[in-house]
Formats: sequence, C-alpha cells, structure tokens
Amino acid sequence: MSRTVFVNGDFVPYEEARIPIMDRGFLFADGIYEVAAILDGKLVDNEAHLARLERSLGEIRIANPYSAAEWTGLEEELVARNGIREGLVYMQVTRGVSERDFAFPTDVAPTVVMFTQEKRMRDAPAAETGVAVITVPDLRWQRRDIKSVALLAQVLAKQAAAEAGVAEAWMVEDGHVTEGSSSTAFIITKSGTIVTRPLSHAVLPGITREAVIRLAEEAQLRVEERLFTKAEAVDAAEAFLTSATMLVMPVVTIDGQPVAGGKPGPLVQRLRSLYFDLADGPKGRA
Ligand code: PDD
Repeated sequence: MSRTVFVNGDFVPYEEARIPIMDRGFLFADGIYEVAAILDGKLVDNEAHLARLERSLGEIRIANPYSAAEWTGLEEELVARNGIREGLVYMQVTRGVSERDFAFPTDVAPTVVMFTQEKRMRDAPAAETGVAVITVPDLRWQRRDIKSVALLAQVLAKQAAAEAGVAEAWMVEDGHVTEGSSSTAFIITKSGTIVTRPLSHAVLPGITREAVIRLAEEAQLRVEERLFTKAEAVDAAEAFLTSATMLVMPVVTIDGQPVAGGKPGPLVQRLRSLYFDLADGPKGRA
C-alpha cells in the first residue's frame, strides 16, 4: 500500500505532498506538533493529546483549525488509509505561509500536516532488555511546556545518544534531570516511591506521564513529583521513561552505570503492563 499523508485538508500520496518554502514552520519553527500512539489500529489517549495540541496552539496564538472531533476523524481516516495496526500518528500545525517577516502575518491560514509511522509498540524488543541513556546539558528555551517544532536542542541530544550507542539522552539543568530528549524521565527510589519532575515551563507535560501517575496512584503506589539528580537516578532501585513512542520503557544504565542491576525492574514492568491494560480498555484488545 502506498503511503498516504494529510496536507491542509487533503489525503494525498506522500510523493505528492508539498509545503511552500515560505512556510513559517520551515523558516522559524513557528509551529507545534503532537504524536499519539496507535495500538491495535486504535489511537491511544487521543483526547489528552488533542487537549495538549489545543493548549500548545493557544500558547503561541494560532487558532486551532479543527475541533477535537474533527481531528479525531482525520486521524482515524489516516490510520485506516495506511492500514496501521501499531505505530504513531504525527500532527503538525504551523502559522502558515507568508513572506519572511518575524512578526505574525495577518490573514494567513495555518498549515496542517499529518502522517503515520509503523512501529512495534507492544512487543518492542527494547522493553525486554531495557534501554541505556546518557546525560547531556539541557540547552533548550524557557517554554518547554509548549510542544514546539523547534527541536534543535533535542536533535543534538538524541544525536549524542546515538553516537554513544544508547537510546535516549536525559537532559540536566542546574544539577537536576529535566526530561529525556523526547520522553519523560522517572526513577523509583529504594523505598518504592515513583519520582518525576513536577510540571512547569521546564518540561513538556507528557501525556504518558499523566496516565502512568494515575495508574500508579490507583495501584496504591507512592508518587512524588519533585526534582532529582543524576546521582540519585544512578542509585535508584529502578528507572524508566515514558512517551507516546516508547510508552513505558525501563532504563537500565545511565552514563554507563547500571541501574537496578542493569535489568528491567519489577515495578517498571508492572507499570508497563498496567499501561497496556489501560490502552486496551475494559473490553480488551480489538
Ligand atoms: N515526544 N518530553 C519531551 C521533550 C517530548 O518530546 C516528549 C514526547 C515527552 C513525552 O510526552 P508524551 O508522553 O506525551 O509522548 C516528554 C514525542 C513522542 C516526539 O517528539 O516524538
């Protein structure tokens, strides 16, 4: 099946999709995006992703071109047209196309693109072994709560991880871990408390983070939203990361130092399985 993408209201073959070079997303990274997981052909936690998309747009003053119901219909159609059972849907909205000028143009329609990617999610091999991470300085701007397409600092962080042969980079600022280059960072203390950084302008409000905190609390596990250092993470009982692309993923080494004996720990595995139960819904798999 050839790949179909969505561009400004139309479903088109990938090869025919075109964005003008004056698009402000291209020139200024003046836009935002979302990524939602697909499991068994269904969107996971999509309402929450669309709520964050609406918030990101509001923070940079772009009018949301679609209602949540319209977005959902378009996403579902794209997933169906591409026959995706497991993977991701990517959505991006930029301020639109206009002669290059820093200030907002008037009378410009936002650019909207969407595409899907196939990815093994449920039986991801990395979940069996856990992943390694490195730490890097957090070089980003001061509004990381906005899911901006300005991702250069994260590209450099992820490239550093790739060159180190590991899956993710945890970014550190003022001695504390902020988050992963494209994921939320968690540790579990030796007394069993799940720790992640509180929400602020310093981190993206992860949708998977929110679900995992809710699941942990429902399972009577202790959750603390507070700052933690790399030293505390290395010394933790377990560590993990969350994102729409990796869901709940055990972290087994940090800068080459093993965490949890270098193997996925029991609490992380439990949270991963609770997450799939949640995604599958009360009726189980489709
Ligand atoms: N990234 N922190 C950052 C900086 C992220 O880019 C992401 C997600 C997360 C996790 O958020 P969520 O659980 O809502 O996916 C945290 C997406 C997946 C990406 O850029 O591909």
